[in-house]
Amino acid sequence: MLNTVARNSKNLKTKYGNLRNIVSLAEPKQPKVVTDIPGPRSKELLSRLRNIQQTGSVQLFADYEKSIGNYLIDVDGNILLDTYTQISSVPLGYNHPALLNTFKNEKNIKTLINRPALGVFPGENWPEKLESILQKVSPGLPNLTTMMCGSCSNENAYKNMFIAYQTKRRGENDFSKEELESSLINTPPGAPRLSILSFKNAFHGRTLGALSTTHSKAIHKLDFPSFDWPIADFPKYQYPLHQHVAENSKEDDRCLEQVEDLIEKYKKLNNSVAGVVIEPIQSEGGDNEASPEFFQRLQKICKSNEVYLLIDEVQTGGGPTGKFWCHEHFNLESSPDVVTFSKKMQLGGYFHTKELSPKLPYRVFNTWMGDPGKLLMLETIINVANDQNLLKNVRETGDHLKKNLIEIESEFSHLINSTRGRGTFLAINAKTTQLRDHILDKLKQRGIQSGGCGDNAIRLRPALIFETKHADIFLDSFRNVLIELNK
Ligand SMILES: Cc1ncc(COP(=O)(O)O)c(C=O)c1O
Repeated sequence: MLNTVARNSKNLKTKYGNLRNIVSLAEPKQPKVVTDIPGPRSKELLSRLRNIQQTGSVQLFADYEKSIGNYLIDVDGNILLDTYTQISSVPLGYNHPALLNTFKNEKNIKTLINRPALGVFPGENWPEKLESILQKVSPGLPNLTTMMCGSCSNENAYKNMFIAYQTKRRGENDFSKEELESSLINTPPGAPRLSILSFKNAFHGRTLGALSTTHSKAIHKLDFPSFDWPIADFPKYQYPLHQHVAENSKEDDRCLEQVEDLIEKYKKLNNSVAGVVIEPIQSEGGDNEASPEFFQRLQKICKSNEVYLLIDEVQTGGGPTGKFWCHEHFNLESSPDVVTFSKKMQLGGYFHTKELSPKLPYRVFNTWMGDPGKLLMLETIINVANDQNLLKNVRETGDHLKKNLIEIESEFSHLINSTRGRGTFLAINAKTTQLRDHILDKLKQRGIQSGGCGDNAIRLRPALIFETKHADIFLDSFRNVLIELNK
């Protein structure tokens, strides 16, 4: 299968338009389950891995040589239609010929193996690569910091916000002797009492700073000390949205009033809010949406209180909502102060305003600060997405999926509810957690790899190359699972 892809892709120049057909032809026509999942080979590997690591989260072992397009193939030969894509991080599916081609080029291989400490020894083409790849997709923000993963992008972006906040108060490089000394022993004024406001059910990562703003599951937080930072309610909407406009708008009012109150309260507690962090759609916490008006008003509150606004697009960024950045759906009056990314973007990082750039070196820094090899992958991904108009594909496939999910919901309204989302970034709730887990299991048995989030949501996170024909396979299986559970 892959040989065909490789042979056909040899003739590729720079245009990727016809690759859609090549990938489509190489893909299996449908899922096929030949063993239990995990199957015998996966189980054998699991027991080996268990001697080395905690493996409770491992579902199966994949065969990444054979996996292709929208299909994840496991080591037991099961062919799974992948609507979860490595927790939403594989934009072009598996073994895309354009990505394979990227690393046939010797120059690119050298970029891959000579990995620089980017903050100290960047390669000659690094500025040009940032300009021509990442800045081309910037959500209107002039500056950019690259990082490794989603957590460390948020973690470091919080530091930018704290630095800028303090700089406004006293200038960045006029540190007093007292500040210099107290910073080393974690006490004010060098280590000031400042906070980041986040929302209930948010997920912003698992490093210690980011974890203080993560509130989705206790298992992520237990035993770790956390900062005393304010946490506001995120809107909980009633569905369908169009039938609950008044209630949901009241819910926006309630949550935004809390944000204002908490900013005031923490100022009085001498723990002022320097930044607000929010996901455009709360992903790990259950695919909870908030309205464009909510985000517009939140931005106004931030501006009037001189608090920075960070929109965390780690899961939503890179196209799955039908726009490159999900917050583009919100018609904000200006760009947020920071937008963090990772997952589909292959490397982590954040776009930010000039004001948020530290004036001194080593304020925000680590050894790798990103990875030029991953940026080459992103370059190919963006070129393919543009040439094949993949965002249009996401919107069309998403509309088709959502329309049919709503129909299935009305047929099985005693089991499922609250279809929601944008593009193919969609979710639907099961009545209980147990039922949700049951549905995910049964989908797996039918060859559909899907995922859950929050207490009872089933979330869809397919690749940008997921088409209506793939959506139909998912919808058919989903419906059949519900028929089976209904018996
Ligand atoms: C919105 C959001 N922010 C941050 C993160 C953390 O990213 P990572 O797992 O790469 O550290 C995630 C991961 O799922 C996420 O969904």
